[in-house]
Order: sequence, then C-alpha cells, then structure tokens
Amino acid sequence: MIVVTGATGNIGRPLVRALTAAGEDVTAVSRKAANLPAGVQHQVVEPSALDLTGADALFLLLPGGRTDAEVFVAKARAAGVRRIVLVSSQGVGTGRHPAAAEEAVKASGLEWSILRPGGFQSNTLGWSQSVKEQRTVEAPFGEIALPQIHPADIAEVAAVALREPEYAGTTWLLTGPEPVSPREQTALIAAALGEPVRFVELTRESARERFLRFMPEQVADSTLDILGSPTQAEQTVSGDVERVLGRPARGYADWLSEYLDVFR
Ligand SMILES: NC(=O)c1ccc[n+]([C@@H]2O[C@H](COP(=O)([O-])OP(=O)(O)OC[C@H]3O[C@@H](n4cnc5c(N)ncnc54)[C@H](OP(=O)(O)O)[C@@H]3O)[C@@H](O)[C@H]2O)c1
Repeated sequence: MIVVTGATGNIGRPLVRALTAAGEDVTAVSRKAANLPAGVQHQVVEPSALDLTGADALFLLLPGGRTDAEVFVAKARAAGVRRIVLVSSQGVGTGRHPAAAEEAVKASGLEWSILRPGGFQSNTLGWSQSVKEQRTVEAPFGEIALPQIHPADIAEVAAVALREPEYAGTTWLLTGPEPVSPREQTALIAAALGEPVRFVELTRESARERFLRFMPEQVADSTLDILGSPTQAEQTVSGDVERVLGRPARGYADWLSEYLDVFR
C-alpha cells in the first residue's frame, strides 16, 4: 500500500489518480475532506498524525515550509515502510533552502528518492481573482523567465519513484520545458481568454507583503530571491521529466488549457 501525504494538493491529487489508475492500493492523507477515486482509503488528519501501518511506500510532502521530515521517517521505520519519495525543491540544490528534510530521508536506512521541482505553474492560481475581476496580473520581476513545472508532471515522476525499485537513491531535478516570464504568462492568459490582460509589475517589497499572508518569512524571502535573481541553474531546463516519463514536460500553455476556467 502507498500512502500519499498532501493528497488534496497540486501534486497529491494527480498522484492519487495516477497510482489508482496503475492499480495500486492507495491511502490518501489530508486535513480536508477530498473527492477521491473509488477504492482510495482516506485518513483525515494533520500530516504528522498519519498512521503508516501496512504501508510499503510513503510519498512525503512537507507543507507550509516545514522541514521536520525526521518525524515521518521515524514513523515510517517503525511501521516497516520500505521506500520514501520526498518532495524537496530545486532551491536545496542551489543553496536557497535548508537541506534538513533531504538529509533525514537519506539517513533513514530506507529506499529513498528525492524530487527537486522548480517553481510550479500552478503558483499563477494566485492571479485568478485579479484576472477574473479586473483583467489584471500583479506580480514582481515581470521579465525574468523561469522553467516552471506542471505539478502533474511531478506527480507522474513521483508515481514512477514510488512503484519502481530501480530508482532508489535517485535525486531528480524537475522543471518545465522552457523558461517563461510573468509577463509572457500574462500574454498567454490573455490569448487563451481572447481578451486583453494588463500586467502590473509589483516592487519586491509589495510582493513580499502579499507572500507573507500565506508563507513564512524565510520562504517568502528565498522565493523572491529566486524569482528576482535566479542563478544560471535556476533558469536552466532539466531533462529529468522526459528521461523518466519518456515524453517532454508540459509547458505553461498546457497547464493553462486545463485551468482556464479559474481565470474566466
Ligand atoms: N510551489 C512551488 O513553486 C514549489 C516549488 C518547489 C517546491 N515546492 C514544494 O512543493 C510542496 C507543495 O506541493 P503542493 O503544491 O502539491 O502542495 P499544496 O497543494 O500547497 O499543499 C498540499 C496539501 O497540504 C495541506 N496543507 C497546506 N498547508 C498546510 C499546512 N500549513 N499544514 C498542514 N497541511 C497543509 C493541504 O491539504 P489539507 O488542508 O487537506 O491537509 C494541501 O492540499 C511543498 O513541499 C513545497 O516546499 C513548491
């Protein structure tokens, strides 16, 4: 049985679907009720209260800037879990984010795989209200292009890592197929809607104020550092999605075609 934490989230939802479609026995963990595929068990608990009895593999997503993977590692070892797949971030590799969660998973003695995604295409869901109501996007660093990833691509790579033992000990860098800037994303939204959408560039300070409404200070600052002053590595497209899945990563226009209704 495979346990999926963050099961109501951007990665968790498509991951539960992918594992179920592959015939796996899945237990989803979330605090909120969720509309899950038939046959999926559901633990409605705080993430750290999850029960891993009977689990073979754990998909571990630490939400809200948490880094305490050791809590989950200890539970996994006690329950006889064989394999952990951790959602980390590209920022660990580029020195922006703490490596503690990766270190805890690597030291677990269990089979592990680590996913290091760059920024998510779904972060632009945060623009939906202003696009809907004012046909406006407000974001910082309008011209800086990064290769954001479709969360469902992360989910598909996670499903491979959870199911196939040959990938134990692998760290994957997961990006989209091309760098896209906020101004270009705005133009793609406008084209898809068939209506003009204005781009208003926020200062770093006003973007920070907004980020602090839903993320801890350290995460807000490191996110702004990446968005505003990315390293060469953070701007570079990785081939890992294509290597694992045998097809190119999905671009922003693909993501947008699935989520366009939230901007209408
Ligand atoms: N967004 C990015 O650009 C980016 C880039 C690199 C790495 N990451 C990493 O990717 C992960 C986020 O993935 P995601 O987008 O799939 O997650 P998500 O959709 O933001 O959240 C997944 C689930 O976690 C639960 N959750 C959210 N905040 C929580 C909190 N404060 N405490 C406990 N549970 C909470 C929610 O479910 P319930 O409320 O139902 O429990 C939510 O559906 C994080 O580990 C992040 O560090 C993100």
